[in-house]
Amino acid sequence: MAGRIPDVFIQDLLSRTDIVEVIGSRLELKRAGREYKALSPFSNEKSPSFFVSPAKQMFFDFSSGRNGTAISFLMEFDRLSFVEAVEELAKRAGLTVPREGGRGGEQLVLEGPLDALAAAERFFRTQLRTHQPAIDYLKKRGLSGDTAKLYGIGYAPDSWDALAQHFPDPTHALTAGLLKKKEETGRVFDVFRNRIMFPIRDTRGRVIAFGGRTLANDPAKYLNSPETPLFHKGRNLFGLYEAKQSSKSELPFLLVVEGYMDVVMLAQHGIRNVVATLGTATTREHLALLFKSAARVVFCFDGDRAGRSAAWRALEQALPEVYEGRECRFMFLPEGHDPDTLVQEIGADEFRSRVDQAMTLSDFLLGELAKQVNLGTIDGRARLAGLARPHLERMREGPLRALIANELGRLTRLNGEQLEAMLSGRQRPEDAARPAPQSRPEMPGARSIKRALQLLLERPEMAQKVEHVEQLAASGQPGMDILMEAVEFFREHPHCHAGQLLEQWRDTPKGAALNRILGIEAELDEAAVEHEFADAMDLLRRRALRDRMQALADASRSRTLTSSETAEWLQIEHQLSGARLV
Ligand code: UTP
Ligand code: MN
Repeated sequence: MAGRIPDVFIQDLLSRTDIVEVIGSRLELKRAGREYKALSPFSNEKSPSFFVSPAKQMFFDFSSGRNGTAISFLMEFDRLSFVEAVEELAKRAGLTVPREGGRGGEQLVLEGPLDALAAAERFFRTQLRTHQPAIDYLKKRGLSGDTAKLYGIGYAPDSWDALAQHFPDPTHALTAGLLKKKEETGRVFDVFRNRIMFPIRDTRGRVIAFGGRTLANDPAKYLNSPETPLFHKGRNLFGLYEAKQSSKSELPFLLVVEGYMDVVMLAQHGIRNVVATLGTATTREHLALLFKSAARVVFCFDGDRAGRSAAWRALEQALPEVYEGRECRFMFLPEGHDPDTLVQEIGADEFRSRVDQAMTLSDFLLGELAKQVNLGTIDGRARLAGLARPHLERMREGPLRALIANELGRLTRLNGEQLEAMLSGRQRPEDAARPAPQSRPEMPGARSIKRALQLLLERPEMAQKVEHVEQLAASGQPGMDILMEAVEFFREHPHCHAGQLLEQWRDTPKGAALNRILGIEAELDEAAVEHEFADAMDLLRRRALRDRMQALADASRSRTLTSSETAEWLQIEHQLSGARLV
C-alpha cells in the first residue's frame, strides 16, 4: 500500500488550483457579485442555489447542504475517492502525487520531532519522581506507581521554560508541539505547565504527542498537543499501543472510553484492552484503527443525553466498518460515574460483566430509531422504515445487515421483498477508502466565537492582528480551540484561503464544525468586517480574563495565592477596567 499523501502536498496543490476553473469545466457558471452561481448538480432545481466562491476557494450548494473544496467537488461530482480526486487535480497542475514513507524524505524529516518527544517523555518522568505534590495527587486518585510506569506517566513542572531549557535548538520541539514561540519577543516557552503528563503513542510505541491534566485550577482541565505532522487527534487513540502490548494474541475486544484516567485506572484493575479518544468524537479512521486490532469494539459512554448522542455519532461512523465478523457494542454507565470511578467502586469482575452485557449495534440502532416513532400506527412503522433506510444503506451487504433488515421487517411488518426493494437500486455501499462525512459535528458553542471564525474565514489576513493568542487559547471557552487553531494556521500560512484550512482539517470534528458555519456573506464591506472581528475578539478576551480571574478567586479560597498570581489578578482587574483591550 502506498503511504498517505502528505498534508503539505495537498496545501500546495490547492494553492495552484482554481476551483472556478475546475467546476467551470463541468458546469455552466454565471458571475453573481463576488461569487459564481449555477444550477445545483446535486438536485433537480429550477433556480440556481449552487455557488462557487473564488475568495474562499469553496463551493456551497444550498439545495443539498453540501460545501467543500475542489477536492470535495470532484469526489461528489465525478464520484471519485479522495485519492483519485487529488490525483485528478495534480494531473491538471502537472504535479506528481508524493507518498509518505516512500523514497521521499518525510520519514527523515520527522525523526527530529520524534526524538524531541522521546526526550520530553524522559524529562517528564524524571520530574514526577521528585515532585511530591504530583505524586500525592496520583496517589489520592488511587493510581499505583506500577500503572504510572506502564503508561510512562510524568509531570510537567510549573515553569515557563523547564522543558525549553533542554532544547538548545528548539526547532524540533516546536514542530512536535512541545514548545511555542511568543510572537512579540521570539522567546520559546513550554506548552505544558504544572500538568500530569500522559504520553500518546503511535502503534509502534513511539511518543507522538501528550495529554496533560492540570494540577491547578486551569480552566483547560486537559490539554492535548496541537495537531502536528506526527499527531492527528482523529487518527490516534490513547492506550492502543499499551493495549496491544498486553497480550501476545489478538485481543478479544477493545473497550473505548473517553478519558486518560479511565484508561489507566481500568488497566490498573487488569482490564488492559482499553483505549480513549482524545477529547474528540469518534471518527471513521478511529474505527478502522480499532478493527485492525480487535474484531469487537465496545464503546463506553455516560448514560446521560450527551453520552447517548456521542454513542450515536460513534454508531454512525461504525456502520460502514462492521462487516465480516466485526462487531460493535455500546455500554452506558450509571449517572455520575465514569469508568475510572466505577471500576474502583465495583471492581474488575463486575465491570467486566457489564461490558459483556453491552448493547449490540442492532439493538442500539433500531431502539433509538423506534423511540422516534409510534410503532402502533401504520404511519409510524412506515416512518421507521424510512429512518432506518439511510443507515442500512451505509452498511456493507452481509449477514449483519440482513439480520437488521429482518428485525426491521418484524417491527414494521414489511416483508423481506418489500425491504429489499426499498434498499436495492440505491448508491453502492460506501467505498472503504472514502471516510464518511461527520454527520453531527461539534459546534463552537459561543456565538461570538462562531462569528469571529466566520469573519476570519472571509479575510484570513486578519489573523496577523490577533493578540494574546495564548491567553485566549488557554481560556477553554467551547470552540475557542478551533478559532485559535484557525488563527495559527493563517498566521503560518498567510496566503492560504478558507478551503485550504478546511482541507487541512478533512475528516476531523473541527473540519466538520468549520464546514457547518461557513457560508456566503451578502455584501461585504472590508472595514466593517475588520471592525466586527475586532469587537468579537475583544469580547472573547474579556470573557477569558474574567474566567481566569474567577479561577484565581476560587483558588484563593482554599490557599494563599502566590505573588505572581496576585500580580496577575491585579493586572487583569486593571485590563478589564480599560475601555477597549485590543
Ligand atoms: P472529563 O472531563 O470527563 O475528564 O474528560 P476525566 O477524564 O473524568 O478527568 P478527571 O477524572 O477529572 O481527571 C474526558 C476526556 O475529554 C478530554 C480529555 O481527553 C479527557 O480525558 N478533555 C476534557 C479535553 O481534551 N479537554 C478538557 O478540558 C477536558
Ligand atoms: Mn474522571
